[in-house]
Amino acid sequence: MTEARRMEHERRQRILERIATLDTLPSLPRVVSDMLRLLSDANYNIDELMGLVQQDPALTARLLKLANSAIYGRPRQIDSLHEAMVLLGAKEIHRLVTTISVMRSFDDAFTRGRILDKEQFWAHSVGTGEIAVRVAAHFGLDFRGVDFTAGLLHDVGKVVLDQHFHAEFRDCLDLSHRRGLPQFEAETRLLGLDHADVGEKLAAKWGLPDSLSAAISQHHAFDPAHPSANLVACVRMANHLVKDEDLSCLGEDSLWELELDPAWHVLCSMKPALDEEGTRELLAAMRRDIKGSRERVRGMVSELTG
Ligand SMILES: [Fe+2]
Ligand SMILES: [Fe+2]
Repeated sequence: MTEARRMEHERRQRILERIATLDTLPSLPRVVSDMLRLLSDANYNIDELMGLVQQDPALTARLLKLANSAIYGRPRQIDSLHEAMVLLGAKEIHRLVTTISVMRSFDDAFTRGRILDKEQFWAHSVGTGEIAVRVAAHFGLDFRGVDFTAGLLHDVGKVVLDQHFHAEFRDCLDLSHRRGLPQFEAETRLLGLDHADVGEKLAAKWGLPDSLSAAISQHHAFDPAHPSANLVACVRMANHLVKDEDLSCLGEDSLWELELDPAWHVLCSMKPALDEEGTRELLAAMRRDIKGSRERVRGMVSELTG
């Protein structure tokens, strides 16, 4: 091992050891994993889904407030969870519940963090989740809510770095700006790990399934041979696409070329007949998806952070 490698390894170990001792890391709300477990069953019952939400009156109240906000522009008041489920659909209810719960559990982390802008961070994360679902659909894939949750959580390691390693995180951003490096590379150089590695630690603490953990840990270091490569590819693509469409977040690299991305190749291998023209159309459709959901995502996050 070279001296530089040894030092990088030591820095990495120091950070990981400190993370392991932190007792103020955000926890994952139980409803998030319970909903994923339920949705993974193709024959799940809507009443069971509603039962999970109703256990938490504050969550139900926030959900109804959102369902009645200008975001959805419903002509009349939605008075019950059942009505919201019928009018918005189970998938949208899952996305709303997951977003409300995860944002709530990170509230404290953001009051201590000093660099990340909460609204910008969540707009990027919710946008990534929504577009991961759309990318999957364009390739005929359905990850039953795991794709949205993975997109929502993919950058949570940044919040931990900002909260608990504030000075180091700022140094990484400075290095990234000065040298024109992607943020995750600057993090690896200075800390020996990046925010995706930190996110992986959180995923392990929360007991997330391997597929979700991989989508978080590999959104910058993609492994096409991983058993969950399709899911990871959708999240990675969504992360890049939303940045290009004005849903960026501090510390994201803009140096990205679709055609060179291994995640794009993994997805395209599922559509062998996709030619140049088809690729252009597909990309245009995905960009329309983002433009179509961008204001709604911003509106939702603004309601929840306000
Ligand atoms: Fe990232
Ligand atoms: Fe991101």
